[in-house]
Amino acid sequence: MQAKKVLITDTILRDAHQSHAATRMKFEEMEPMLDLLDDIGYYSLEAWGGATFDSCLRFLNEDPWDRLRNLKKHLKKTPIQMLLRGQNLLGYRHYADDVVEKFVEKSIENGVGVIRLFDALNDPRNLEASVNAIKKYGKGGKCVCECAISYTTSPVHTTEYFVKFAKQLEDMGADNICIKDMANLLLPFTAYDLVKQLKAELRPETKVHLHTHNTTGTGDMINLMAIQAGVDIVDCALSPLGNGTSNPATEPLVAALKGTPYDTGIDIEKLLPAVNHFKKVAARLEKDGFLNPKVRSIDINTLLYQVPGGMLSNLMNQLKQAGKEDKLTECLAEVPKVRKDCGYPPLVTPSSQIVGTQSVWNVLLGRYKTITAQFKDMILGKYGAVAGEKNEEVVKLCTANGEQIITCRPADLLSDEFEELTNKVKEMGFYEQEEDVLSYALFPEVSTNFFKWRKAQKTGVDSDMAKNPDRVYPV
Ligand code: CO
Repeated sequence: MQAKKVLITDTILRDAHQSHAATRMKFEEMEPMLDLLDDIGYYSLEAWGGATFDSCLRFLNEDPWDRLRNLKKHLKKTPIQMLLRGQNLLGYRHYADDVVEKFVEKSIENGVGVIRLFDALNDPRNLEASVNAIKKYGKGGKCVCECAISYTTSPVHTTEYFVKFAKQLEDMGADNICIKDMANLLLPFTAYDLVKQLKAELRPETKVHLHTHNTTGTGDMINLMAIQAGVDIVDCALSPLGNGTSNPATEPLVAALKGTPYDTGIDIEKLLPAVNHFKKVAARLEKDGFLNPKVRSIDINTLLYQVPGGMLSNLMNQLKQAGKEDKLTECLAEVPKVRKDCGYPPLVTPSSQIVGTQSVWNVLLGRYKTITAQFKDMILGKYGAVAGEKNEEVVKLCTANGEQIITCRPADLLSDEFEELTNKVKEMGFYEQEEDVLSYALFPEVSTNFFKWRKAQKTGVDSDMAKNPDRVYPV
């Protein structure tokens, strides 16, 4: 394979501040640099989706749809990329197909040009409805359909497994395949093999896009090895919010490739004003307590325990609440066992919490003496299918009261809900745009609070709310 120009996606407007600073960057902190970023020559700018939607409504008094439209006003050349959790959209449950379709339609209509979608369990059926909608509303080059593999390690998660899954996604309609290594579990030589295999087996026009983090310090090595194996696009974040728990920094990679056949064509000097600007934004986020400098350093725990950083801190919190901090080592030993029992789900939201909590209960109360409702749902297939075999004994425990195992696509059990949701938002007197129904569908309480505030801003009726732009209502 011939070495070729490497394309870069910059995540400074989404994953970078989600990873480092609880997704608290405001639109007004992005706006001054948008025209400049649009001129750099990036493949895309990841700027929407993920936790930004929730954060806009919950903490920032921003309508996420307004944010998207405002981003689009500036980003005329560079596609806006978003992250979508398949049937979960940007929320935390499965939504009915009509809500999924409307969400994708509105995302594209308001300016998204690349949709990266993934399913926590790598069940392609959980991506079907969104892929179909992207193909419908994004045709004619309007929106790229980028399906992601949730990368994880286990005896069943071999390179062959991932390549087979990627080909399935390609057959479903994916234009790009992303390797999504959210926990930085991928290792440089594995990345080389995986990218080589994907490039060999996927269609020539299918781009392979790599997304990793630098949590354990291997991110730049992963990117460099993937580039030598022929990866088309890699994700980076401008250095003020890059590295550590975020994505590897943009400038070092651009410099490393300069003058080589992989040259990104990006001019680092042109980036300097943005680097200086986001340094100030990072300082503001740190001053306001959203950015703990610890996120910038290397944490090798994931390499040691194969447990994502976020999951480890959750485990420690749960044990602390129970006054059993001394049980951490036992819990860390229990996690791989519980994970094996439920068929090796990747440890990402929500499976990381489900496996983590069950592991804590197993250690504190005895193995499967108490089973959480969510763990049972996962065993019953309500979240989708897993790659491995489930432990028969545990399945028996979860079906002891006649519970049925689900083998169909989980969303087939949901009936349409968009019309009912529309009526609800109208009845409450908050309906201004169709998009409001989607905000409400995803985050009913948080959106209601936001709508109240928005109405108060316009009418001055609720003076308390209008006077308190920094309000955070309990949810
Ligand atoms: Co990420």
